[in-house]
Amino acid sequence: MSEQKITFADQKRKTVENAEFTEDGRYKRKVRSFVLRTGRLSEYQKNAMNTHWADFGLDYQREHFDFSAIYGNNHPVILEIGFGMGKSLVEMAYNNPDKNYLGIEVHTPGVGACIAYALEKKLTNLRLICHDATEILRDSIAEGSLAGLQLFFPDPWHKAKHHKRRIVQPAFITAVMEKLCDGGFIHMATDWQNYAEHMLEVLSANPRLINQSPQGDYIPRPEFRPQTKFEQRGQRLGHGVWDLYFIKAEQVSDS
Ligand SMILES: C[S@@+](CC[C@H](N)C(=O)[O-])C[C@H]1O[C@@H](n2cnc3c(N)ncnc32)[C@H](O)[C@@H]1O
Repeated sequence: MSEQKITFADQKRKTVENAEFTEDGRYKRKVRSFVLRTGRLSEYQKNAMNTHWADFGLDYQREHFDFSAIYGNNHPVILEIGFGMGKSLVEMAYNNPDKNYLGIEVHTPGVGACIAYALEKKLTNLRLICHDATEILRDSIAEGSLAGLQLFFPDPWHKAKHHKRRIVQPAFITAVMEKLCDGGFIHMATDWQNYAEHMLEVLSANPRLINQSPQGDYIPRPEFRPQTKFEQRGQRLGHGVWDLYFIKAEQVSDS
């Protein structure tokens, strides 16, 4: 029987988060916004990830990323959390060569698929991270260094007892706000009305965030957002779609 070689891509799913401990040395159980799905990497995804990680991949680091060194320019950097299989992220990066994109996803088959598609499109303005986005945001991203955050169809965690696992929480928005530059945007979309209402409540509660919907709720689905895989699935099931778009206002001084 031939022995299966364990490669970099196979191992990656084991390091998507860092173990953390309490002051008295006990393991800290974290409320995660994801479950690591069991889907195996196809040979195609595995090859893309093993061969091209140096071109597209970034690893978790305790120091801040130096975006101008990473991308080789000073274009604005847009972060997308939970890009799934990455098709819409690649299309956005392809359509906007004057912007840099940083995608974070814990699902390794998605990371492999996204690298393969980015290669096909010959992208140079996209980098990917396979790690818990909340840790990356906290440790690896400098204050004011992001021009935007995209969160498309995050896991809705339907049951009320799981709502605490939703990534959109006041503390998450506080962390995002710290990393966003003045004038930067937050763009979210969901096909779950209850989550849309929760997003609207959390975003609207932040006085520095200005809702771009004139009615103070949702914007029409923008043309520039390519349809995602999850969105297509929702459409087949007859779900609606809610887009939210907010801009971070400049700090107004009291004097
Ligand atoms: C419902 S899927 C949507 C994927 C894609 N945006 C789409 O619309 O097709 C949500 C994705 O977010 C990822 N995710 C959830 N929490 C995450 C986190 N903390 N860090 C990185 N990825 C996360 C999950 O692995 C999952 O692939």
